[in-house]
Amino acid sequence: MTSASFSRIMCAKHEELQNDKNMGREQKRLLFSREEIDNAVIALSKKINSDYRGRNVLLVGILKGCFVFLADLIRHLDIEVTVDFVILRSYGSATVSSGEIEVIKDLHESIEGKDVLIIEDILDTGLTLSHFKEHLLLRDPRSLKVCALLDKKARRKVDFEADYVGLTIEDGFIVGYGIDCDERYRNLPDIWVLTGEGSEA
Ligand code: IMP
Ligand code: MG
Repeated sequence: MTSASFSRIMCAKHEELQNDKNMGREQKRLLFSREEIDNAVIALSKKINSDYRGRNVLLVGILKGCFVFLADLIRHLDIEVTVDFVILRSYGSATVSSGEIEVIKDLHESIEGKDVLIIEDILDTGLTLSHFKEHLLLRDPRSLKVCALLDKKARRKVDFEADYVGLTIEDGFIVGYGIDCDERYRNLPDIWVLTGEGSEA
């Protein structure tokens, strides 16, 4: 089993366990508290404020996972910003991504000549962001950078690094702070890792 399919299966397995009313045990572990997340977001905002001082930045959020992160980040930015969102879908099965992406909801306006900063929740294999970045580069932005709240460095399948990273994590399926498992848990204020039989040492 690839580690990508392992993560997805953890999510499915968790749901199965949740539906079983006899299972009362905890299946997630706190990874980052609200305070740790706040500190990471503030550190990111300081770098972004300094790097883009005097410029107007278009933040491009990748929905849905970015929405809480972007909402917090933007309130620490004291540069001129505008915001737009995209919805992407990866081709392939639920467990194995082919790496190709489809743009379900595209940007509202042209990015030609603009400073664009992509805002993503998790950088995992790197397939989504490397394809999306190539896709946006065809539209001739003035600059194009990536900011990811979480980076699972060990899981990379392509050579891709974000320009700004909030927190680096090991493998494991993450939920909370806008990030979901099958659309659930986005409302948790902290960041959790799903655990379950055999998922974690
Ligand atoms: P990548 O193309 O493998 O880098 O996939 C990145 C996307 O997969 C992220 O934007 C998330 O939507 C999703 N993803 C990756 N890891 C997790 C996770 O641990 N929890 C929830 N979603 C994840
Ligand atoms: Mg995402």
